[in-house]
Amino acid sequence: MAIVVPLLVLAAGVFAAAVLVLLIIRNIISSSNKRSQHGNKARRPPSPPKLPILGNLHQVGKYPHRTFPALAKLYGGPDLMLLHFGSRPVLVVSTSKAAREVMKTNDLISADRPDLKTAKKLLYDNKDIANARYGEHWRQARRLCVLHLLSNKKIQSCHALREEEIGLLVNRIRASAQTGQEVNLSALLPCFTNDVICRMALGRKYDGNTVFRDLLAELMELVVTLSVGEFIPQLSWLQRDSPDDFHLDGDGIKAVILDMFIGGTDTTSTLLEWAMSELMKHPRVMKKLQEEVRREVGGTMILTNAWGIGRDPADWGVSPDEFQPERFLQAKVDFKGQDFQLIPFGAGRRCCPGISFGLAVVEVALANLVRDFDWKLPGGMRGEDLDMSECVGLTARRDLPLLTIPTIVSARRPT
Ligand SMILES: *[C@@H]1O[C@H](CO)[C@@H](O)[C@H](O)[C@H]1NC(C)=O
Repeated sequence: MAIVVPLLVLAAGVFAAAVLVLLIIRNIISSSNKRSQHGNKARRPPSPPKLPILGNLHQVGKYPHRTFPALAKLYGGPDLMLLHFGSRPVLVVSTSKAAREVMKTNDLISADRPDLKTAKKLLYDNKDIANARYGEHWRQARRLCVLHLLSNKKIQSCHALREEEIGLLVNRIRASAQTGQEVNLSALLPCFTNDVICRMALGRKYDGNTVFRDLLAELMELVVTLSVGEFIPQLSWLQRDSPDDFHLDGDGIKAVILDMFIGGTDTTSTLLEWAMSELMKHPRVMKKLQEEVRREVGGTMILTNAWGIGRDPADWGVSPDEFQPERFLQAKVDFKGQDFQLIPFGAGRRCCPGISFGLAVVEVALANLVRDFDWKLPGGMRGEDLDMSECVGLTARRDLPLLTIPTIVSARRPT
């Protein structure tokens, strides 16, 4: 997919595959130039040898988050490595130590975003939030979105709506479970998060037959021709002037709408999908969680942590790849950007503004899924044999769909 590469940057805030940040070196160079004027020696991080024109693109491969650590190991730069994507220098940050350095100590520098042509085209001249250059437009657009869509108050006010959507999801699974039908979680979960976001942001759902792309296209059309707020009152805040005279123009509105959907739907459903996959692959953990959740919904915090595992052995011990959510019970690790060994939402100024939104949906949904059902794989497949390959894309989702056979456990219907 052509949009994958330019959107890598957009995904950084939500992509928890590794403690890995792409940053355009231009900023770093300009900062180290400044530093060297003050007498400090500017050092370039190590780079693998590069080809003319291609740079290191041929070495990056299909799964950059997997090849980067291998490259860094080979070419001797565990913390930082300088690659070239074509002629564009790209700094790869591979450890929590370096991530802290880049995102905290040099927060201001890393808060900027590269000027990528494709992203510009897709995201209306980067007038969105995720890809906008660091500056006044970004500050104000983000402020508006947080205020009207992502604030704790707004998220709390949508509590009933979320519960209702989770209830619908559970009921759909229940219906299949009653007839022993296979449940395709890879299909169900994205519908669920789409519905939640649509209802929160637009105040209504669209029926299952509306292709999401068409819906977005229609929405964008509205922005161009008419006043969005008149048709979707929930979005009228996008067009209102704020007291300090900031307002989004047509492109700005479109870009922000696109951001909300890109940032809030796939990320959330992919997270749920992986969490369910890991749990099915590790029946011991599943059982423990089910016991806990069935005793009382409450201890669900572990799960969100469990999912976004940083994989640096220096931080995570001998088996960083293993799904051991218990490790988070011992180590107090903040996953909201304070502790850099785990940054599923990014960190610093550009950290994800939708953290509360994501957690509110994921925790309760997952708790309900594991509380109300026991889960098996089709055809008697054992959990340990479940294929965990990821595919390339904005949110590194599962390569193969997650097909499951649920059986109903609790007779109690969710409210
Ligand atoms: C499961 O859903 C995914 C995503 O919609 C789809 O690509 C896949 O074909 C479905 N698989 C089955 C067996 O229904």
